[in-house]
Amino acid sequence: MLDSGQGAAAQDWWRTAAIYEVYVRSFADGNGDGIGDLAGVRARLPYLAELGIDAIWFTPWYPSPMADAGYDVADYRAIEPLFGSLAEAEKLIAEAHALNIRIIIDVVPNHGSDQQPWFTSALAAAAGSAERARYHFRPGRGDRGELPPNDWTSMFGGPAWTRVRPAAEHGAAEHGAAEHGAAEHGAEPGPARAPGEWYLHLFTPGQPDFNWAHPDVRAEFASVLRFWFDRGVDGFRIDSAALLAKDPGLADLGATPTPGSSAPVEAAVAGLPAPALDGPASQPAAPHPFIDRDEVHGIYQEWRRIADSYPADRVLIGEVWLPDAQRLARYLRPGELHSVFNFDFLCCAWDAAALRGVIGTTLDAHDRVGAAPTWVLSNHDVVRHVTRYGRADTAFSMTDRQIGEPSDLALGTRRARAAALLTFSLPGGVYLYQGDELGLPEVEDLPEELLQDPMWERSGRTNRGRDGCRVPLPWSGDAAPFGYGPEGSVPWLPQPAEWKNLTAQAQQEDPGSMLQLYRTALRLRRALPALAAGTGMAWLPSPPDVLCYQRGAGPEAVTVMVNLGGRPVPLRPHQEVLLSSGPRPGGLLPPDTAAWLRPPAPGR
Ligand code: GLC
Ligand code: CA
Repeated sequence: MLDSGQGAAAQDWWRTAAIYEVYVRSFADGNGDGIGDLAGVRARLPYLAELGIDAIWFTPWYPSPMADAGYDVADYRAIEPLFGSLAEAEKLIAEAHALNIRIIIDVVPNHGSDQQPWFTSALAAAAGSAERARYHFRPGRGDRGELPPNDWTSMFGGPAWTRVRPAAEHGAAEHGAAEHGAAEHGAEPGPARAPGEWYLHLFTPGQPDFNWAHPDVRAEFASVLRFWFDRGVDGFRIDSAALLAKDPGLADLGATPTPGSSAPVEAAVAGLPAPALDGPASQPAAPHPFIDRDEVHGIYQEWRRIADSYPADRVLIGEVWLPDAQRLARYLRPGELHSVFNFDFLCCAWDAAALRGVIGTTLDAHDRVGAAPTWVLSNHDVVRHVTRYGRADTAFSMTDRQIGEPSDLALGTRRARAAALLTFSLPGGVYLYQGDELGLPEVEDLPEELLQDPMWERSGRTNRGRDGCRVPLPWSGDAAPFGYGPEGSVPWLPQPAEWKNLTAQAQQEDPGSMLQLYRTALRLRRALPALAAGTGMAWLPSPPDVLCYQRGAGPEAVTVMVNLGGRPVPLRPHQEVLLSSGPRPGGLLPPDTAAWLRPPAPGR
């Protein structure tokens, strides 16, 4: 059994947890084939325990044709052979638990793989068949059905529809049909197969969207959750959680705005009341045909009942990209998800006013539903924050990754250190992405021929995609593979030579390293009752470009200062500096530096 986290009851561990994202393919390669695997993770569990995390979140570890790095799942109840086996996963879960580390796994419910048996049988079946009803198959528009059924586009670019090639036209390319082989493969002539339907995929053609109005889909995922809960998994990170429900008529998107106007954010910043969570004011004027539809909540209420039927607090964490904090909070109402990622915080520029606004809105929205906020700086989909924070424009946008824009990595690293102390001292849970603790930058010069992210091809080679944040970790030594795999093995993406200075081993020996800062901060975050408490934070008066707040009260209080301005500022009165992200010459807090202070004893 796991111990309770300090400062939180065992049943509330997730409210304050530090959760470390393992991108399996790039973490550590146990067998030397260049691809990270479960053996690699098992060997590094002591490193993670020493880092001071509470849980690991595994990106998809299931068998997959890898049309989207495992987010195209072919079998939800098994392990990708490149990564290991189910027996090995079970060992890993037990070993992690013995080190007091919980295990969260990704579940991908919006879409499956085109190689999944349900989908291959749907391709082989007729239009209107029961097999096709589990997905969104539709006839095309136009005289011969040659146009996609509606105007939706894929998140990775290109149409969100691929046509199943009719037998009569076998060999002829269809407009809008994708480059990959699945639909062609499924279009082998067969007597029962109706020609020419299209299927919906909000991501790649290898990721057909499930029809969540179909009872088989609901039953299947309920069973998948139980399968892994029965094997000791502590929770799920729910992929693309706001996309599952689709408009039953699959209406054109037309001019429907993407949900998440910034109105409530502005209201909160201005101190105005935000709209009620259940009231009509929080409903968008016209529901979007596939983002954040009200029907998704019924799914998560069912999942919550499943999670709650297990002992020891199993958790559900939503990947919900919604800039509207009030709509986001609806996923966190009692009886739904435990937590969601705070992408507003991740996307926010390194700017005191903007961060103050996001933090305030986050706390307010979570408070209203009794949920724990979370804080995250990077993940496997975004440009690493060391690189972001070194640029002129420090905000993150999925549509413009600013690849090739100059980045001052020394500046970015200084800010990343300060950002760690900011993130780890806010009330709630935190997410770390593997390599954050090493201060890794984005790798922006990967040779084009090595790029694997489907974003690259589907954007017509205009968006290099996410490979630059997925480069295998440097563990030790002076040259690639830097201990990621055995000597002589070749990592699936090349590691920069400069990473010899960023290996875990090199940083282990350097008290001023990012790794040591992360270890100390995570340890103090557990040990200091004011930080461990998970709630309670009060802004203190400060210059506009300094964030300053107090956690806790009385002799255990902690004051946090983050200087985002251009000039050193005096530290608030304190009896002790508990931790700071950089030197403080002259007793001042320099630009892009953060400190945790013990305020003076009351009455002095
Ligand atoms: C999520 C994942 C991303 C994936 C997408 C489709 O956003 O984080 O990596 O490409 O869903 O599954
Ligand atoms: Ca391997």
